[in-house]
Amino acid sequence: MALPVKLLQFLDRDSPRQQARLRQELAAGLMAPQARIAPKFFYDSLGSRLFDAITELPEYYLTRTEAAIFVEHLPAIRQSLGEDFTLIDLGCGNCGKAGRLFHAGVLPARYVAVDISVNFLRDSLQQLKRELPAIEMTGIGLDFTDQVQLPDDLPLPRRMFFYPGSSIGNFSPLEAEGFLRRLAAQMDASGGLLIGVDLIKDKALLDAAYDDALGVTAAFNRNLLRHVNARLDADFDLGDWRHVAYYNARDARIEMYLEACRALTTSWPDLADRKLRHFAAGERIHTENSYKYSPEGFTALLASAGFVDIRIWTDPRNWFALVFARPAK
Ligand code: AVI
Repeated sequence: MALPVKLLQFLDRDSPRQQARLRQELAAGLMAPQARIAPKFFYDSLGSRLFDAITELPEYYLTRTEAAIFVEHLPAIRQSLGEDFTLIDLGCGNCGKAGRLFHAGVLPARYVAVDISVNFLRDSLQQLKRELPAIEMTGIGLDFTDQVQLPDDLPLPRRMFFYPGSSIGNFSPLEAEGFLRRLAAQMDASGGLLIGVDLIKDKALLDAAYDDALGVTAAFNRNLLRHVNARLDADFDLGDWRHVAYYNARDARIEMYLEACRALTTSWPDLADRKLRHFAAGERIHTENSYKYSPEGFTALLASAGFVDIRIWTDPRNWFALVFARPAK
């Protein structure tokens, strides 16, 4: 029997208005001189599952390393979060990271899980509620990269934003600063932010993490085209596209693309006709950046976004950092 989980949907990706807006955004990105598809389109329900598989790959050290930092520094993390807090989990996915915290005895009074993939969120949250019925749980289907819209009745004190996994790296540093500033505006002085960030490291390790031997990241990337075909009624043939990902050390970021294996034309409905987009052989669609930081660089970013009392925990190899900060109020 399903237990009651309040599921608020501020944004229904499948409402006709929203669908039209997303189609417009996709079409504009594909028609740009440097074609692009925003990374939020990775996460249809197959994409969310493929991402879960990525986190288990030997090459994708991020999730594992972050989990080890949580175990190693649990008492200090618990102390930073304090008591009777609301955990607001941004991009909760399968709610696994929050679940592990709860099972380790770090228990919030309230858990607010936010994710763009509403169906995935509903299933994950219902499972978590079964395991931990004492915690009040709310799910919000929201693209929080545009707006951080919380329920009106959510108490202001002790809001702890939880943004693990280094998803902050999928914003440019400038966008990240704006996003962090918007988070700070949603807290009072008793609030905080617990955030994971991937650190700058050897190029070979980074390249492998985003181009694994099994090809799961390639499938995750190419699944974008399946998603675009469904949303836009486009006719991308997945066999014509290959996965490209590498570390650009100058800009401290992984760049991910889909590259056309041959000259081709793709199309989708547009008014009474079809819109055509030609791609030359070797032409790329940009699909994601994943920025990496130094501890000093990330501290400076947090400070310029209005955070103070910054604490950083890392693993012994300094591959990943977990950071806690409070808003300057
Ligand atoms: C979600 N985000 C932190 C992942 C990353 O590492 O940038 C997305 C990803 N892309 C390819 N592999 C994983």
